[in-house]
Amino acid sequence: MRTKIAIIGAGPAGLLLGQLLHTCGIDNVILERHTPDYVLGRIRAGLLEGGTVALLDEVGAGERAHREGLVHEGIELAFGGERHRIDLHRPSGKTVMIYGQTEVTLDLMNARRAAGLTSIYEAEHVKPIDFDTDHPRVSYVKDGITHEMTCDFIAGCDGFHGVSRASVEPTAIATYERIYPFGWLGILSETPPVSHELIYSNHARGFALCTMRSTKRSRYYVQCPLEDHVDQWPDDRFWDELKRRLDQKAADELIIGPSIEKSIAPLRSFVAEPMRFGRMFLAGDAAHIVPPTGAKGLNLAASDAHYLAQAFREYYDEKSTAGIDAYSAKALSRVWKAVRFSWWMTSMLHQFPDTGTFGARIQLAELDYVVNSAAAAASLAENYVGLPY
Ligand code: APR
Ligand code: PHB
Repeated sequence: MRTKIAIIGAGPAGLLLGQLLHTCGIDNVILERHTPDYVLGRIRAGLLEGGTVALLDEVGAGERAHREGLVHEGIELAFGGERHRIDLHRPSGKTVMIYGQTEVTLDLMNARRAAGLTSIYEAEHVKPIDFDTDHPRVSYVKDGITHEMTCDFIAGCDGFHGVSRASVEPTAIATYERIYPFGWLGILSETPPVSHELIYSNHARGFALCTMRSTKRSRYYVQCPLEDHVDQWPDDRFWDELKRRLDQKAADELIIGPSIEKSIAPLRSFVAEPMRFGRMFLAGDAAHIVPPTGAKGLNLAASDAHYLAQAFREYYDEKSTAGIDAYSAKALSRVWKAVRFSWWMTSMLHQFPDTGTFGARIQLAELDYVVNSAAAAASLAENYVGLPY
């Protein structure tokens, strides 16, 4: 089999890249190691920047998001027993949309299927080969038979644990990482959200976040020790702890119910540089990871896909390598600013082992400054809604 762009991974990065390339008439094939249901079954965050929604529209996959997504113009920061609203829209002119990553993935899968594009699911032992030459290839095993796909370029959209970054010579790549000393215990419940906007809470007992999937389905998180196991958190313990970390009004108005999903996720910041290795390009979680505090993971996958699709369009339409030569630096510039913002939100809102009394005062001073300074609030807003592409 031959294609122009061999995409490894059918998550948001790979699927969006595939559709963006299709709109430019650039042939591409996706190789995914799991089944579509497995990919859709992964519970992930659900906050889209306006730029991400615009890209879904660009590939004709945005209709359901506009119909079912919840447009938000602000968030709330809770600390010291009170909630403070941060207006996202007034200083930035932009909004964000609550719409689950699972729904984004499903919409992109349906768009790909409708376009009749080739996706090879349950592709095992996928391996990028000779990407440092002008004749890259990808080998894989499907139904026990080994296949080889020749291509012009390889897009490694295979996430943090994928094969693409792992196939790069260690001396050719630099990585930057911070692992946070806590996890997020998340719960999904068929209950109406406690507030119509997200609440990010800094509390001495630990961080908490109130978010949602719809007006009938809520998503809540509490910071927990990394060594905790979800079995240690029966629903009633979770709800009690969440209430203790919220302001009284939210605690009183919280509607609890049985969890339909409950899991603990570790938090890390990670960036690999560069994001290009000869004829292989990394995009999304394959190249970078952010703590979910800033809701940037899916949105960075989208901006990477946008930059990479533009670069390939220039290569094929304008016979120019300027785009592919500039991709890594361009993508990393936006990535690092989102990594900084996610680190800043995480540092301001969570209890760290070494926070101590001085650190707690610094956090409260930071929060006090953000909620009482138009400039500081505007800075949070422009990062939260997404910096320009
Ligand atoms: N071969 C083929 N496919 C692979 C391989 C492999 N060796 N390794 C991983 N994959 C697939 C995974 O099964 C997954 O479907 O690549 C896909 C990567 O998808 P994501 O991990 O979702 O990464 P990305 O598309 O970059 O999206 C980033 O997803 O995980 C969230 O929080 C993250 O919101 C962010 C978004
Ligand atoms: C979510 O809806 O899961 C979510 C929203 C915002 C975040 C993190 C997670 O910062």
